[in-house]
Amino acid sequence: MIRTPEALIPYILAAAVVLGGMAWHLGDSVGGLGRTVTFGQATIGGPFALTDQNGKSYTDKDLRGHWTLLYFGYTHCPDVCPLTLQLMGDVMDKLGAKATRVTPLFITVDPARDTPDVMKQYVAAFGKNFVGLTGSEAQMAPVLKEFRVYAKKRPIAGGDYAMDHSGSIYLMDPNGKFAGTYEEVLGPDKIAADLKTRL
Ligand code: NI
Repeated sequence: MIRTPEALIPYILAAAVVLGGMAWHLGDSVGGLGRTVTFGQATIGGPFALTDQNGKSYTDKDLRGHWTLLYFGYTHCPDVCPLTLQLMGDVMDKLGAKATRVTPLFITVDPARDTPDVMKQYVAAFGKNFVGLTGSEAQMAPVLKEFRVYAKKRPIAGGDYAMDHSGSIYLMDPNGKFAGTYEEVLGPDKIAADLKTRL
């Protein structure tokens, strides 16, 4: 069957209703619980109160007013975390003048070892604008849940432990809402190019 433009109107109206409903939902979320909703994506994000690398309070409200590249990991991570943070640093460099609109943010999944002082020393190695957040176990639990981060302690030789954890880079928009994820495999050029189109 060939649809004439007139025949398409009911479909366009239906789409408008769906989009309108979505917009309402998004609008509602801004002043509400801080939850985020995006097309075809799981709900990611929510209220939190953590401590930055300078010992200052940092909450979900501090995500507003700038874009955020957000990564969860831990400073004792032997491989993936440092590589990913290096990647985020490279992306920041490639953004040029637009880098001022983006905050690279690292949240630890190992707060017992990653104190603000440890975080400060660690994030400084990846770029001067990096923010590193930590908190008590009680503060961390809701954050991991809201951002759907998997993190589990795994004993290793010598009585030490590693943290198994999930690892996508989240992009949060200037309303503090989840906008999407970047996988590390994309590399800094592609991520920076995509990000530039959004800034
Ligand atoms: Ni790691």
